Amino acid sequence: MTERPRLLPLLGQAGHSGRDSTTCLYRCGNACDHPVPNESDNPYLGDVVNAGISRRGVVRAGAVGSLVLGLGAAAASPARAAPAASAAPAAAAPARSAGVRKGKAGPLTFKAIPPNRLDSLIVPNGYDSAVVMRWGDPVLPGAPALDLANQSARRQSAQFGYNNDFVGVLPLGRGGRRALLVVNHEYTNEELMFPGFTGLEALSVEQLKVAMAAHGLSVVELERVDGTGRWEPVRGHRLPYNRRITALETPFAFTGPAAGSPWLRTAADPKGTTPIGTLNNCSGGVTPWGTVLSGEENFNQYFVGGDGAPAELKPKLARYGISTTARVPAGSRRWERAQERFDLTLHPNEAHRFGWVVEVDPFDPDSRPRKHTALGRLKHEGANVIVARNGRVVAYMGDDERFDYLYKFVSDRKFLAGDSAYAWRHNLTLLESGTLYVAKVTGDSPAAEIDGTGKLPADGTFDGTGTWIKLVSGNTSYVPGMTAAEVLTFTRLAGDAVKATKMDRPEDVQPSPLTGKVYAAMTNNTNRGVGTNPGPDEANPRNANKHGHIFELVEDRGDNTAESFTWSLPIVCGDPADPSTYFAGYDKSAVSPISCPDNVAFDSAGNLWISTDGNQLDSNDGLFATAIEGSERGHLKQFLTVPYGAETCGPFITGDDRSVFVAVQHPGEITGASVEKPASTWPDGDFAKPAVVVTWRLDGGPIGG
Ligand code: FEO
Ligand code: CA
Ligand code: CA
Ligand code: CA
Repeated sequence: MTERPRLLPLLGQAGHSGRDSTTCLYRCGNACDHPVPNESDNPYLGDVVNAGISRRGVVRAGAVGSLVLGLGAAAASPARAAPAASAAPAAAAPARSAGVRKGKAGPLTFKAIPPNRLDSLIVPNGYDSAVVMRWGDPVLPGAPALDLANQSARRQSAQFGYNNDFVGVLPLGRGGRRALLVVNHEYTNEELMFPGFTGLEALSVEQLKVAMAAHGLSVVELERVDGTGRWEPVRGHRLPYNRRITALETPFAFTGPAAGSPWLRTAADPKGTTPIGTLNNCSGGVTPWGTVLSGEENFNQYFVGGDGAPAELKPKLARYGISTTARVPAGSRRWERAQERFDLTLHPNEAHRFGWVVEVDPFDPDSRPRKHTALGRLKHEGANVIVARNGRVVAYMGDDERFDYLYKFVSDRKFLAGDSAYAWRHNLTLLESGTLYVAKVTGDSPAAEIDGTGKLPADGTFDGTGTWIKLVSGNTSYVPGMTAAEVLTFTRLAGDAVKATKMDRPEDVQPSPLTGKVYAAMTNNTNRGVGTNPGPDEANPRNANKHGHIFELVEDRGDNTAESFTWSLPIVCGDPADPSTYFAGYDKSAVSPISCPDNVAFDSAGNLWISTDGNQLDSNDGLFATAIEGSERGHLKQFLTVPYGAETCGPFITGDDRSVFVAVQHPGEITGASVEKPASTWPDGDFAKPAVVVTWRLDGGPIGG
């Protein structure tokens, strides 16, 4: 049974572009109110349009063939044996679940969910759903249940954190009955966490530390409910894998060329090797070797005192959205009152210790999580890895800001298959050295045909070619005037210098494990073509783009390590009745409205799943699915919707296709809402709690199929 839909009053007021203003404040520190951080004079695509012949047809023929591992789904859900030397329990072992679709594409037969404003999680007929973990649920053995009147940093550090975003589910053992759930906790809504909340400035130091402990990641051991796609947390006193990683106190290790550089040294860490905590962890990815990557995104909002930073650092701070003129910028979380390191006047390098891709090994609960400097420093949405034909691993990444860039990393070392301790240790080093690239994208239609309305050019497609511009390889910089450590620490400035293409907020970027083609969500950019901002180009073809689009990238020769590619836009989002939308040419009367794509994922049949954040069509956010190959390409349907005020995060489809996990982030995040006056009472009927949900088919069949 799904929950009975219930209508709630629509509290609040619209923020920028119709987004609720509370979301704007808490999630990204009112980024839309601030100047666009990218003030570089890079040409946008329209300036460099190349009317040359597309190589797309050639590439398509050879696109398949990247190594696909694990269970066949996007994240491949690998399971891995713990090495004998590790403290990790020996229960983890290689797994290959039964019942895998093995890439056999079938039609997506579920009946689409209509747009709605209900305060429930809605799934199609024939499906069920259940909360797996919610904010405040015990994670560590002996942790107390959530008690708002007695919350403390110590309790929160043992409980599930707030605002779950990325979801990874990694099989544990061979039986298909156990798994590790790994979840990011991106940020906190203090107004929905603390009774009597009157403002961030008024929080006690202990409450600030609660918020810091509610950030980070959780690792939770799950077990499957017999014979179904439902999963539940394992309860008990021996939960060796369960873990909390927080912004409050968890030590990390820097790896790669910038580790230990002067930019990363602080009074508390004069060697520049051991940052404390992780911030604003948004999306991420599961690696083929069974670890989890997590992107540190809007870290700027946690810092004050940029006005007192050294003059030479100010441009570097400003490029990441940190105010260098205000002592306490509007929307600051005021964490400097709990930990002095968040005051940049006193500790100007502390900000450089965030904005990295983090790697966590959930199978080794004693392992120190790492921040890989070789992958550059951005507002990382996430990172998704594929093993290229030549064995090197390639991580695709987006920098989620208006007019920022797409990146990829290619490892120096090659992936080792197998479950030996040697292979495990080797694979853990893959993201420590390699080559970092940024994308330059060119359209193949005349610039005059890209008029900003979304009207297709005469060749019928928004498409073209692109190159990956090398920024750093190992310790060698390819950016004039910048050292390798500088390029990796101030990667946005390096992208400016090489004139990368300004995109419409690149969010999740993920390669299909079946084809090696790469899909990136451009969530929106209401500043495109507005005022003095860059106008439309073929890859970002709409002015004031409020609904976003999907960018498909096909590496030349089907080689994910290639330095050139072709691309197209299979989906230009919005209401299908809006002529500016496009669904790969599919009959628009059969597709669902979609707005603000954020996260992408694949099932084992290769269908593309898209979750949204910030629907601008007067509906709750949702999860959608479409075939991306064949005659059904573009037949997009809404699979579920999340409760009122929430965004849909994750998603994660298990390798056997029997379960889809989503993270319901910030339910009830509506201006004026509070613990006492909630805009959402999901999931328990009292006050709003972010939660991870699993959905499965009642007849045991594959999700969506
Ligand atoms: Fe946290 Fe880019 O969304
Ligand atoms: Ca074209
Ligand atoms: Ca996101
Ligand atoms: Ca993803």
